[in-house]
Amino acid sequence: MPNAYISGTGYFVPDDVVTNDELAKRFNIDTNDEWIRKRTGIEERRFAPDGMGTAFMGARAAEQAIEAAGLTTKDIDMIVLGTLSPECTFPGTGVFVQRELGFADVNNFVPCLDIRNQCSGFLYGLGTAASMVRGGGYKNVLLIGAECHSHALDLSTRGRTVASLFGDGAGAVIVSATDEDRGVRRWTLGADGRFAETLWQRVWDIQRFPFIPQNEEGQGLVEPELMWAQMDGRQVFRHAVEKMITSLMTVCWQEKIEIKDVDLFLFHQANLRINEYIQKQLNIPDDKVFNNIMRYGNTTAGTIPILMAEAEREGILKPGMKVGMAAFGSGFTWGAALMDW
Ligand code: UT7
Repeated sequence: MPNAYISGTGYFVPDDVVTNDELAKRFNIDTNDEWIRKRTGIEERRFAPDGMGTAFMGARAAEQAIEAAGLTTKDIDMIVLGTLSPECTFPGTGVFVQRELGFADVNNFVPCLDIRNQCSGFLYGLGTAASMVRGGGYKNVLLIGAECHSHALDLSTRGRTVASLFGDGAGAVIVSATDEDRGVRRWTLGADGRFAETLWQRVWDIQRFPFIPQNEEGQGLVEPELMWAQMDGRQVFRHAVEKMITSLMTVCWQEKIEIKDVDLFLFHQANLRINEYIQKQLNIPDDKVFNNIMRYGNTTAGTIPILMAEAEREGILKPGMKVGMAAFGSGFTWGAALMDW
């Protein structure tokens, strides 16, 4: 059975930097740098311009990852894409990326799979991609985490709790087969649907007939509570800490290693305080944790692959390192993974 390792990484963030003060000023939101920075660690985030969506950002990250792996689109056997801000309801965003990258070719109809697991989407995707590669059926799986949050945020004082957290961006990796003794060693995934409504964005209600009420002209009418994401932040925070710690401990226990044996932790970037709390509970020194939430906010499925690409380019993530990852988010869904880089 081959091992599955990451042969290339890439990321893309839009140029528009929105600082906390700028968020308040530009959108007339009653918030400020001190509140956001103190509660979340976020200093700024990126917003995509009108006309740029999730597939475009995912495709740019993917191009980098393919090149970094020394491959071309012809070598990719599968696209797996995680997002909570898809291009549309259906089809999935993977096919838009496939088309954007010119994969759609009569000789090469690369299959596309969308993963809808929000903040843990990348780790669900990693488990899926690694299983496919280890199973022997696929040599190179392009795994993308991409989000265009800003176009679907309630950028007003009413929506400030959620709007101050999220940013746009995409990360991509190539999960490749190897006979070398390295790569993804272990992963664990979990979900608890009892909390499905604790962080969600409905947009419509499919139980209604019709799913979106219409006016006389046939135009859809969506109430603000349906249109925008709703979150009980304190519940999310509490469960995130608990599940990220226990799932990290689970993968370490399954691999028969201790937390101290891990060289670098790449945690989901939802709130710096969550990561600091985990770090303190597990006694992890500062130089073993890489965070970038201060610059990008929460890019949901994009956080871990963006971190990975940046850490690799900055020389923080080096060959031979043992890497621990953990994420938690809407669903609730969560996961952790261990990998030898
Ligand atoms: O990937 C998963 C995604 N989500 C998360 O991980 C979120 C986890 N939760 C959190 O990070 C925190 O719960 C938040 C940072 C979202 C909120 O922090 P909190 O300490 O739980 O604040 P809160 O929601 O209880 O709000 C405290 C106060 C409220 O005012 P009052 O009612 O006490 O007068 C809010 O209206 O802070 C107010 N507030 C703000 N003030 C200025 C909420 N958002 C803002 C804001 N600027 N952006």
